Amino acid sequence: MSADGIEDVVVVGGGVMGNGIAQVVAQSGLRVTVVDVAQDALDRARERIERSLARFVRSERLSQEAADAARSRIAFSTDLEAAAAGADHAVETVVEDLEVKSGVLRRLDEACREDVILASNTSQFSISRLAAATSRPDRVIGSHWFNPPPLMDLIEVVRGVETSDETLAATLALAERYGKRTVVCRKDTPGFITSRLIVALMLESMRIVEEGIAEPGDVDLACEKAFNHAMGPLDTMDFSGLDTTLKVAENMRDQYGDRFLAPQNLRALVAAGHLGRKSGRGVRYRGEDA
Ligand SMILES: NC(=O)c1ccc[n+]([C@@H]2O[C@H](COP(=O)([O-])OP(=O)(O)OC[C@H]3O[C@@H](n4cnc5c(N)ncnc54)[C@H](O)[C@@H]3O)[C@@H](O)[C@H]2O)c1
Repeated sequence: MSADGIEDVVVVGGGVMGNGIAQVVAQSGLRVTVVDVAQDALDRARERIERSLARFVRSERLSQEAADAARSRIAFSTDLEAAAAGADHAVETVVEDLEVKSGVLRRLDEACREDVILASNTSQFSISRLAAATSRPDRVIGSHWFNPPPLMDLIEVVRGVETSDETLAATLALAERYGKRTVVCRKDTPGFITSRLIVALMLESMRIVEEGIAEPGDVDLACEKAFNHAMGPLDTMDFSGLDTTLKVAENMRDQYGDRFLAPQNLRALVAAGHLGRKSGRGVRYRGEDA
């Protein structure tokens, strides 16, 4: 369906990205239901949205009335089928696992109206492969947001082999309604434009640390000051989740070879449960008070 007619959105996955995407959708005046398998993920999503809206109000980027209105447009549910049945648009942003994502898209395909576009927030999986789990590959597209969605100005839109021109146009128009800029990845390639670039930088940064060449803080400072990056690659990993970075790297290694081989220090941190901000400890992150 065209972007103008979209009023109800379902966001499946209420983790780091799902709550932020839902907040943007609600702030643009649309209704949104966040769906997750885990009730505690939904409770955390609600808290994160509350905190983020409060920060927007405190910094005078949003009025209290607008924040209250956005909040009133957000619902939370563990019932995917019920939430999808009334939706005009669906976004899947569950864990970066091909089987899990395919399963969610299959269920969305069955539960959503026929004209509904199914957008995946995958960081690097093939959109065509995800679309193959559905009976509507022409209405499946990559819509790749950045963390945190309320602050990041870009959505990377990715075509699958069968994505139609209408689906692409509607997705670009919807991003405009959200107030986001877009880049289009015209070929369905793993990692698209942005993950290919940032994962290469993250893995090389981890290798520099592993080889004892520099302290993590200096690697980040080099990127911030030499290249004017807003945040260094290691801080970015802590922010995004080391487990997600590792999964993305492993899939990209399958596709592109050893240039995306994850170094041992990244594997060890993930094995130890040091996943970045979400677990309280990461490459550089040691908790808010450290
Ligand atoms: N973290 C980032 O910076 C970032 C940036 C861009 C894109 N992404 C992509 O966004 C997606 C989500 O990443 P995240 O960082 O939010 O992960 P996350 O681990 O924080 O959240 C994933 C959520 O999915 C839920 N989930 C798992 N299986 C489900 C199912 N079958 N139905 C409903 N919910 C289910 C989990 O309970 C969890 O709450 C991934 O595809 C990731 O690659 C992440």
